[in-house]
Amino acid sequence: MSGNAYQDDRGNKDRSITKAGGPGSAEGAMRKGKAVPAPGGPFLIGENMTGGYGKGPNILEACTIAVDKGEIAVIVGPNGAGKSTAMKAVFGMLDLREGSVRLDGEDITALSPQARVVKGMGFVPQTSNIFTSLTVEENLEMGAFIRRDDFSETMEQILDLFPILREKRRQAAGELSGGQRQQVAVGRALMTKPKVLMLDEPTAGVSPIVMDELFDRIIEVARTGIPILMVEQNARQALEIADKGYVLVQGMNAYSGTGKDLLADPEVRKSFLGG
Ligand SMILES: Nc1ncnc2c1ncn2[C@@H]1O[C@H](COP(=O)(O)OP(=O)(O)OP(=O)(O)O)[C@@H](O)[C@H]1O
Ligand SMILES: [Mg+2]
Repeated sequence: MSGNAYQDDRGNKDRSITKAGGPGSAEGAMRKGKAVPAPGGPFLIGENMTGGYGKGPNILEACTIAVDKGEIAVIVGPNGAGKSTAMKAVFGMLDLREGSVRLDGEDITALSPQARVVKGMGFVPQTSNIFTSLTVEENLEMGAFIRRDDFSETMEQILDLFPILREKRRQAAGELSGGQRQQVAVGRALMTKPKVLMLDEPTAGVSPIVMDELFDRIIEVARTGIPILMVEQNARQALEIADKGYVLVQGMNAYSGTGKDLLADPEVRKSFLGG
């Protein structure tokens, strides 16, 4: 890490983020059904979230997702399970009919997405997460929109974290490869110096090699002390780096546990990990 300035005084730098470091999970043992938060509550939690779009049916049913300090939490599940909807709900893009969202102990259920960014949430949505006609540098600058201080140091840290973006900083983001675009999107979210980062399918549509590289960068960000809550299509690989995992099915928590537990569970393997 020493060569990389992308660190600050938050978090626990010594702790292993990967599964080898042990669970450190807020949720203890594997269980079926509703996820139960740890006493004291995790750093970010959407708890018992029930809601849908507009006046439509409930997409989420008592869904709980959470991430604690020093953790990577991963949400997996079939297409249409409501993973993105759950992320949007935590970010304030969905009116909840029941449940709540808390950040660092504070109830933020009523806050707008903008206000949540000010509180320290960084969110990279699944689609349309960059401005394709702007340069890489302009995209990162846009990310700093809430900041009134000098953000040049953060920009440098992000360009250190993603060296290819330094090389391409004056190029239109739309000219970049899929993996490079995702780096722009993550970099943009980091420009606010978030206290927690939410990523919806950061490795969508990239090759396995690029996926591994992106996961390495995500682990690096987590090691700087920024907890990460992410949705992943590459379930097996994502659970390997997850401290905590959630399997969502039809808007509900089907399974939750440590990444390791979920990877070892025969039912989860059979139904969601291809055996
Ligand atoms: N903006 C929207 N308005 C109405 N319904 C929506 C909207 N977005 C998603 N849905 C519906 O909500 C359900 C869950 O969709 P969601 O995108 O959350 O699933 P997902 O688990 O993220 O799927 P994927 O793996 O394909 O990204 C689906 O039935 C979908 O059609
Ligand atoms: Mg989705």
